[in-house]
Amino acid sequence: MLSLFITLFTISLALSGASAAPTSALAARGLYSPSIASPDANTVWGVGKSAVVSWDTSKVPNTAENFDAVTLYTTASDGTETLVSSLSTNFSSHAGAVGFTVPQSVAPGTYYVKIGSSSSDKFQVAADPVVYLPDIQVPTASTTWAVGDLVSIQWDYSSAPANPAQLPYVDLYTVSPSGGTLFVARLASNVDVKAGKVQVDIPQVRAGKYLVMVGGYGHNSAQFTITA
Ligand SMILES: *[C@@H]1O[C@H](CO)[C@@H](O)[C@H](O)[C@H]1NC(C)=O
Repeated sequence: MLSLFITLFTISLALSGASAAPTSALAARGLYSPSIASPDANTVWGVGKSAVVSWDTSKVPNTAENFDAVTLYTTASDGTETLVSSLSTNFSSHAGAVGFTVPQSVAPGTYYVKIGSSSSDKFQVAADPVVYLPDIQVPTASTTWAVGDLVSIQWDYSSAPANPAQLPYVDLYTVSPSGGTLFVARLASNVDVKAGKVQVDIPQVRAGKYLVMVGGYGHNSAQFTITA
């Protein structure tokens, strides 16, 4: 009786073991998972831009079929793996690389890709810089600065997009006798919008009424005073 029990037990072990096929059998069915070379930890993808996932083909078995998909994942705040998007489906496992466009629906952040059970390093997806011209808060109509002063031009960036483009320039204008504005000097260029301010030296100009403009008309300060 005992020997019958042991025999049945052994048979049931053998049966349950049969459902977990060895790796070579999975590979023969095309379920091989590659070693992903790119993206790596230094990779930055742009939303809406083309991107490539590549893998080591030297280890892909000849019998491997197409990969089902390459998928984009992120790690949720509780640590769980979260599927974000499929990037490409049904592509040759022997090609070594697959290209696609990063979907517009992907928010900037930290991600990784998976092919089968293989994961890439974590890497970044960044939004393209968005042009944003802020409203200038300082100088105001009551500001008086003197030639040679180191001053702080300030603006409101509370409604800036997540990834604003740098301000190409911060310029000083004066008011012409006819009421128009005349360019006087470039005070700064390639300025970080999210800093909310930039420090500049007031150049050697005549005493009078001036205004500061970032990026274009409509994004200028009130007229303020520069004293000699
Ligand atoms: C996958 O692509 C192959 C050609 O490489 C094609 O024969 C097959 O039908 C495709 N499978 C699916 C599910 O689209």
